[in-house]
Amino acid sequence: MKFFIDTANLAQIKEANELGILDGVTTNPSLMAKEGIKGSDAVMAHYKTICELVDGDISAEVISTDFNGIVEEGKKLAAIHPNIVVKVPMIKDGVKALKWFTDNGIKTNCTLVFSAGQAILAAKAGATYLSPFIGRIDDSNWDGVELIAQISQIYSIQGFKTQILAASIRNALHIVKCAEAGADVCTCPLDSILGLLKHPLTDIGLAKFLEDAKKTA
Ligand code: G3P
Repeated sequence: MKFFIDTANLAQIKEANELGILDGVTTNPSLMAKEGIKGSDAVMAHYKTICELVDGDISAEVISTDFNGIVEEGKKLAAIHPNIVVKVPMIKDGVKALKWFTDNGIKTNCTLVFSAGQAILAAKAGATYLSPFIGRIDDSNWDGVELIAQISQIYSIQGFKTQILAASIRNALHIVKCAEAGADVCTCPLDSILGLLKHPLTDIGLAKFLEDAKKTA
């Protein structure tokens, strides 16, 4: 399973990258706004900076909702760097645009996915990645991980090549459960990635080893 970090914060991207386990970055307009990035030139420049920091797929989201707008915006984003993946919302014109990008060799990430039906449509359109938002599904009293498992089964039976990119991850357990359910990628906040490190017996065991090491010094 690939690890992406889900943020536009450069310090957090650097910290995750330095761990040596980072395969890419996802962003969205909310994450860009959180970093105070304002204006389309600044947004494009920020994507370029992220591409220079991390050697992996970098999702950059369109804000147009009509076919022509999505395609024009996506072409501009894709021209920033070869690693850019154009992030397109799961709407009717988005599906049409996904197919256009597929036919024109541009990688895509279909976002705002909440059902298996949407996952089938995106795969039919040739999306490179599919982003089910599992935390938001949990928030609405459904089971986000269950959706990952269902899509994984469908893609496997049908031979779809679209990679399942579990998004809206809220904690380390989500990452483990998504790995178990067949996600190809997890895009996570830094805290959830670092949460995987934590186990009290590791801390207790290390403290004891270091204490005993003094006896052998
Ligand atoms: O990648 C999508 C993700 O950023 C959404 O996460 O926590 O806003 O539901 P969240």
